[in-house]
Amino acid sequence: MKLKKLRDIINYYKCFIKEKTGKSRFFKGSFAFLKSSLLLLIGKTIKVKQIAIDYDFASDTYYKWEKFMGKHVDSMIKSALSLSRTKNPVVLDLACGQGFVANKVLKKYKKNVKITCVDASEKMLLKCKQRIKDKNVDFIKDDAVRFLKKQKKNSYDYVFLSWALPYINHKKIIKLFKKVVKPDGIVGIISNSSGTLNFIDDIFVEVMVSKRKKIKRLNDLLFNLPDGENGLKEWFKEFNFKPIDLQSGEEIVRFKKSVELYNWLRQTGVLAGISEIFDNFKSIEKSIIKEIEKQNNGKKDFRSNHKFVSGVFVKKK
Ligand SMILES: C[S@@+](CC[C@H](N)C(=O)[O-])C[C@H]1O[C@@H](n2cnc3c(N)ncnc32)[C@H](O)[C@@H]1O
Repeated sequence: MKLKKLRDIINYYKCFIKEKTGKSRFFKGSFAFLKSSLLLLIGKTIKVKQIAIDYDFASDTYYKWEKFMGKHVDSMIKSALSLSRTKNPVVLDLACGQGFVANKVLKKYKKNVKITCVDASEKMLLKCKQRIKDKNVDFIKDDAVRFLKKQKKNSYDYVFLSWALPYINHKKIIKLFKKVVKPDGIVGIISNSSGTLNFIDDIFVEVMVSKRKKIKRLNDLLFNLPDGENGLKEWFKEFNFKPIDLQSGEEIVRFKKSVELYNWLRQTGVLAGISEIFDNFKSIEKSIIKEIEKQNNGKKDFRSNHKFVSGVFVKKK
């Protein structure tokens, strides 16, 4: 069995059973744990197709995330582009979404740039095309890893990956960055980091336990988050990338009602993949909102925390 699968099973054991009290909770938790482990072992997990379904869903409301978190992406882009490598860079915006990064890069270089935007969600990519109409920009619907495998060695001056690392196996993708980035080229990255969404992790575990019969796929993405600046640095160091600029931070969003918090998480893609975990997801949504209410313990506002880390890395020659 692959080490990652074993690690995920242990993580699920901790979430579903360990330290949970009561006989009934123990039996329900054990059922949910066994079912999840089985699904994990047979590979019935959330993959790029399921992530794309939920980003299609979020495509009309995703601007809320850009508005709230965009300033942190701006700072990473600025830092990466300050290391000017050439006057005519070849740039890749991977998992481009609605083109937040590509748009900024284009504004800086105008006609003297070639940008490729890649995303797995048809509707996010459509918004990207509508935002950026420029003959120097190409749009490709594909999975990030599959796309990178098709690229030639040393083809990009810059590769950006903004808010998508947790959806992708980090070892696979950073290894591919090493292949496609030119020597001395740059990778700019921003990602949620471990400790993010710590207010709501338990909520989803409890919904999975109570709706255990409806689980049809497992989310093994939860555990693919870098552990702060050091964690991200170590991931890149393994593939010969040197950190130039590392930053981290946290934003907290507050709402008056549980349903508003839930809507924020769905409409911004934060919960991408969730609709594909359960059969008949519509019926599960009410339980999630109820559980948010329950676990908030009468506090006056409903919060979610978004921890993140960003890095600008150079590929050593
Ligand atoms: C949070 S959005 C980020 C969009 C954009 N980079 C930004 O900074 O606003 C995540 C995007 O990653 C895309 N995505 C997730 N996994 C992917 C994969 N394996 N390959 C390609 N795109 C992926 C989603 O479709 C979605 O558009």
